[in-house]
Amino acid sequence: MTEINRKEQDEYAIKVKELLSELYPERIPLAFVHSYGCQQNVSDGEKIKGMLSDCGYGFCTSPEEADIVIYNTCAVREHAEARVFGNVGALVHVKKRNKGMIIGLCGCMVQQEEITERIKKSYPFVDLIFGTHMLPALPSLLYKKIVSQKRVIDISEVSGEFHEGIRKIRDFSFKGYVPIMNGCDNFCTYCIVPYVRGREKSRRSEEILKECRALIEGGAKEIMLLGQHVNSYGKNLEENINFSALLRKINEIEGDFRIRFMTSHPKDATKELIDTIRDCDKVCNQLHLPVQSGSDGILKRMNRHYTYESYLELINYAKKEIPDISFSSDIIVGFPDELREDFEKTLELIREVGYDMLFTFIYSKRKGTPAAEMPDSISDSEKSARLRELLAVQTEISAENNRKKVGKTLKVLIDSEGKKGEGYLSGRSEQNIIVEFRGDKELIGSFREVEITKAHSFALEGVLKKG
Ligand code: 5AD
Ligand code: SF4
Repeated sequence: MTEINRKEQDEYAIKVKELLSELYPERIPLAFVHSYGCQQNVSDGEKIKGMLSDCGYGFCTSPEEADIVIYNTCAVREHAEARVFGNVGALVHVKKRNKGMIIGLCGCMVQQEEITERIKKSYPFVDLIFGTHMLPALPSLLYKKIVSQKRVIDISEVSGEFHEGIRKIRDFSFKGYVPIMNGCDNFCTYCIVPYVRGREKSRRSEEILKECRALIEGGAKEIMLLGQHVNSYGKNLEENINFSALLRKINEIEGDFRIRFMTSHPKDATKELIDTIRDCDKVCNQLHLPVQSGSDGILKRMNRHYTYESYLELINYAKKEIPDISFSSDIIVGFPDELREDFEKTLELIREVGYDMLFTFIYSKRKGTPAAEMPDSISDSEKSARLRELLAVQTEISAENNRKKVGKTLKVLIDSEGKKGEGYLSGRSEQNIIVEFRGDKELIGSFREVEITKAHSFALEGVLKKG
């Protein structure tokens, strides 16, 4: 196993900067970084940008203008991988025009050896490949690439604790992603994540609190705590702490801000967690609790360690303790040999819970996972039909939930201009529902009260309250 030393990496960043000033004497070289997939990846992308900035790069908004392109990839479904291959393939023409351009691939996809082999063979113009563990070593890898003029590939595993000390360049000033752990030990049978992100590593609470405090002092209004499985937070740390205790500590930080987190695994989401959400005023009354399926048989074959009943028991406890709580979930449709009756249990569950939002996926076979070896007699067209059916049912549920909000006043964090056109703003309620209303762009990044006047299936409309 490799060890990565931050001080050494910072020194490499300075060396790269020197090399770049010789290569680009008249201008600042530009970088384009794109992260696919989950928020964890987006958060890693912020670290990549921080390290590239330390290496002397500025940033641009398209690969065509860039001197270095980094695609931070996702391996969770085949579709995500196909998109990366498509986008990387398109760079061949860009590189013909800008011969000195560096193309780098990192993230979950390249942590799989057969993918790295495929890139080596079929994409000779890719210069830099580094796995999820090697991300903090970007400055030294880049240095090696520039000096040797040869392709650099490193997907080795890294020893030690959660890697600290990387400066981030964040996409937003008013909301911040804060990783609290990395990796996953659960091995759900469909999922590639434990193989590509490695074992769970929690981050020391002191470091997390330091980052949260700095964000809030810098004006952040929302903190999103990130981990593949936040409920296991603290298990491998020397300090005696769990996720609920961490939430309580962050909640004590002074200021007007919200706390969200993802993702929770139902097998370890406890009543203690619900009580913590109830008690902590800054923790949003919202829970993303991916159930994946409503069928006990499928859940068992997915290795999820909970049942329809136990999941619902927690949901009902949360509804009792926090009446305005909102739920969202991930659902996989078409797991190997999912029968119609299994799928119907999923429909029954989503009606019973009454989610505000569902993230729905058709099962995607991931080589090397146990589910990839399971027999499957369900056709692709049947899977697609079920997905459409599920979406139709969920659209009704969301619309019904949203109708109940008309007439209420919600506190909204305004995050962008609205989709409805000029003069509109968009934000999120505490329950994470999109709210659109008329207002001045200057308000982006602040909290405002909005009176809800109209409900759509997946968004609300309203009027900004004075003051
Ligand atoms: N196929 C389809 N969806 C998947 N997910 C994870 N692995 C797969 C797969 N092989 C979904 C799960 C998870 C979300 C992040 O992605 O629903 O919660
Ligand atoms: Fe994948 Fe399951 Fe771990 Fe989530 S908990 S990352 S679905 S293995």
